[in-house]
Amino acid sequence: MIYITGDIHGTISINKRLNSRNFPQQKHMTKDDYVIIAGDFGLLWDDSNEDRYWLKWLDKTKSFTTLFVDGNHENFDLLEQYPVESWNGGEVHRINKSVIHLMRGQVFNIEGQTFFTFGGAASHDKEYRKEGKSWWSREMPSQAEYEEGLRNLDKVDWKVDYIITHTCSTTALEYIANCCDLHMDLDEMHPYFQGIEQKANYKHWYFGHFHHDFELPNNLRLLYTDMIRIN
Ligand SMILES: [Fe+2]
Repeated sequence: MIYITGDIHGTISINKRLNSRNFPQQKHMTKDDYVIIAGDFGLLWDDSNEDRYWLKWLDKTKSFTTLFVDGNHENFDLLEQYPVESWNGGEVHRINKSVIHLMRGQVFNIEGQTFFTFGGAASHDKEYRKEGKSWWSREMPSQAEYEEGLRNLDKVDWKVDYIITHTCSTTALEYIANCCDLHMDLDEMHPYFQGIEQKANYKHWYFGHFHHDFELPNNLRLLYTDMIRIN
């Protein structure tokens, strides 16, 4: 079984969100079951004892395997120190035995379902953050990552079961601005995802970043604290 949820922001809410009271379904899960976090996982942040404790907590005490795409609130210097491995058809950073970072522009096969993953997003508060301490320019994808994403979608004829990103397409950004009065600047990621939304054949697209939970047109689902079973 596979569940998906939105931004965790590391030690701020890892326990609250994934403890067995809030997420009782884990009682029926094993390490062959998955919880996917749609960005802003946040436990690769300052390499503190607290971060290490909660990474170990996920690996040693939780019944499930944790997968995440990166958001904008990740320490990319730390994240990129982990070795890149092939896993279920795509590339990952393996953080520990059962905590795995799904890299940008990859297609994975998990429990017979295909997933296109593409993390990253622009921080709207970066002027209040310090580069290398609380903000990293690698929150935005490189040209090579954009191209790899399109190449990997080409390889599967633009057909996947699920798409998981941290931010969203241009029309989704406009929809969120209109419905919730929640405005974030348009950047290069939104038209990139717009092209994918128009061309790809997918069942559902899950994303986070905006700290709300609701369904949008075109089978898009904005996620925050909801835990959704996706298969
Ligand atoms: Fe975010």
